[in-house]
Amino acid sequence: MAENETLDYENVYKKSAKRFMHKEYLLLGGGPINCSDRVLKAISMQTLNPLSVDMHQLMDEIKEMTQYLFQTKNRLTLVSQTSGSGGNETIITNLLDRGDKLVIAIGGTWGERVLDMALRYEYDVLPLTKPAGEVYTLEELENAVKSHKAKLLFVTHGESTGGILQKLEGLGPMCHKYGCLLGVDAVVSIAVDPLFVDRWEIDAVNAGTQKAIGAPPGMCLLTFSPRAEQRMREKKMKPPYYFDMLRQGIYFDCFGDHTRMFHYTFSSNMLSAVREALAQICEEGLLEIWARHKRNVEYFWKRLDEIGYTCFVNKRENRFHGVTGVNVPEGISQRELIKFAKDKYDIEIAPGFGPTLNKAMRLGLMGTNSRPEMADYLIEALKDGFQYLNK
Ligand SMILES: Cc1ncc(COP(=O)(O)O)c(C=O)c1O
Repeated sequence: MAENETLDYENVYKKSAKRFMHKEYLLLGGGPINCSDRVLKAISMQTLNPLSVDMHQLMDEIKEMTQYLFQTKNRLTLVSQTSGSGGNETIITNLLDRGDKLVIAIGGTWGERVLDMALRYEYDVLPLTKPAGEVYTLEELENAVKSHKAKLLFVTHGESTGGILQKLEGLGPMCHKYGCLLGVDAVVSIAVDPLFVDRWEIDAVNAGTQKAIGAPPGMCLLTFSPRAEQRMREKKMKPPYYFDMLRQGIYFDCFGDHTRMFHYTFSSNMLSAVREALAQICEEGLLEIWARHKRNVEYFWKRLDEIGYTCFVNKRENRFHGVTGVNVPEGISQRELIKFAKDKYDIEIAPGFGPTLNKAMRLGLMGTNSRPEMADYLIEALKDGFQYLNK
């Protein structure tokens, strides 16, 4: 090929002046959820220089609102430009060295993925499992931490694949009794169910931006206790560069040295979206947000019962209040029902995954979508879908 020639491309869009457009759906699955107009407006602002004072102000505001969100005074609290999975990988790689002992309380796919990550980094892992719909007791986790002499216990708070909520109260003090740290995946539970990082003595938490927070996917919010920070400073192996929290903490001015040494280029568009979503959380207040999710999902469960659908997790006390596993009625195809809801009602429902695979659909009423009228609309679609497909 001559130097002034390029590879050509042939596709249907080549001669089209039309922008990429798609339909708007109600995202009532396991997340992401719909972004508010305020968030969508924030993300479309002109991009900022990552070294500018405007960018620093964005970072500072996000940090302060995230401290409120997590109910913590931890100085190492920030947002990271990686999805929820990257946030979990950040926690384990910043707190452990190769060969270190780790207990993972698996409650579904997300815990299994942390196990996959941990094996890649060659940690000495004790994975725990439970039958679907069940959660761990404090005693079970204490026995595991004690017998394995764990340096980290990793727990998923809300499991969007199994629909369960793992209780966290008491785990922090228990871990600390054995010199162990507590890491929590709150990717989907954040701003749905109560979480008190300082009061419950949690050492590391990872929260997704795309679930009840209402920002787009691709970012996560992280916080580390002083104990966790000390572990980072003492450990022998450096974490992966991109996930290095001590480096990123400098950029976010978490340690008060004001150097703001650049770590990598953050998207100001994404940060603006996260900032706006957090502002909406702060305006409503956590107590109201937690109560709203509980109220609306309980109403949804009651209406499900009325139309003859059943929940995947039998015990109500084990159910997560953001995403509900809903059993597919016998004789009905899950795929057809999901397609029906999308085609006729513009609703996106998530199919089963992990523990719920081929058993239950995953229906989420989170963030702006946690409203009684949304529950009613979803119920209407499920009822209509059943009548249409049950022929
Ligand atoms: C509990 C939990 N952890 C981790 C993840 C992974 O997050 P991401 O897909 O943003 O990497 C999810 C995503 O649904 C989740 O619900």
